[in-house]
Amino acid sequence: MVITGASSGLGEATARFLSAEGASVVLGARRADRIKSLADELIRRGGKALAVPMDVIQSEQVKKFVDSAVQAHGRIDVLINNAGLMPQSPLERLRIDEWDRMIDVNIKGVLYGIAAALPYMKQKKSGHIINVSSVAGHKVRAGGAVYAATKHAVLALSEGLRQEVKPYNIRTTVISPGAVATELPNSISEPDIAESFHKFYEDFAIPADSFARAVGFAISQPEEVDVNEILFRPTRQEL
Ligand SMILES: NC(=O)c1ccc[n+]([C@@H]2O[C@H](COP(=O)([O-])OP(=O)(O)OC[C@H]3O[C@@H](n4cnc5c(N)ncnc54)[C@H](OP(=O)(O)O)[C@@H]3O)[C@@H](O)[C@H]2O)c1
Repeated sequence: MVITGASSGLGEATARFLSAEGASVVLGARRADRIKSLADELIRRGGKALAVPMDVIQSEQVKKFVDSAVQAHGRIDVLINNAGLMPQSPLERLRIDEWDRMIDVNIKGVLYGIAAALPYMKQKKSGHIINVSSVAGHKVRAGGAVYAATKHAVLALSEGLRQEVKPYNIRTTVISPGAVATELPNSISEPDIAESFHKFYEDFAIPADSFARAVGFAISQPEEVDVNEILFRPTRQEL
């Protein structure tokens, strides 16, 4: 199981969950210390884990990351394209640097993951690619246009991928979470917006193992069953 964005939040929770279920996990993120100590902890608990520092906006680093998983395990069963950030702000604030960053990480990072894993999966005629969208991939809110655009893009890419990989017996799932307690709101730089998101997350967010269980559901189906989309929210979340 190869997971991008495994240094915190949903990726970390999924690594812990899958490792406890007996999977070998390969962890990628920029914060090398975080993935290394997570890998060490999982190994101490009897699991198999490998930490590979990488930045998803560098296609060659994503390729090396996936290649190291194949070198370690001979194949790649599941890729979870999870790395992402959410620096929300109204368009009129012109945070062009943050728009670029979201497009690079949330869209191009997912594409680079697909590019790195697909040749191996095609060759083996097996594999599962899981992309992480969001409720924001289904609903657009004022103040979140660019983030929503990136997450709509992840849905579109996932549906196109689903259709294209049929001949290769590859499964695809796009998971769209609502508010889940992670470090994600820390990526918001505008102080007023950050404050309202932190409050919203404190009031509504559910634990990150909710996402890990959704991953577990998708990957544990019989090989002929392809769970293509999962959308889940905190029970109390309206939008
Ligand atoms: N939490 C939610 O409510 C929620 C809801 C819907 C969708 N999502 C999506 O879930 C995914 C995971 O987010 P999270 O909630 O777990 O937030 P998080 O705790 O902030 O985790 C984000 C992860 O992405 C990694 N990342 C960011 N930029 C990266 C880059 N350039 N290269 C490699 N890794 C990078 C971070 O690692 P480093 O900083 O160490 O690189 C971190 O591990 C995101 O795609 C997010 O949009 C989250």
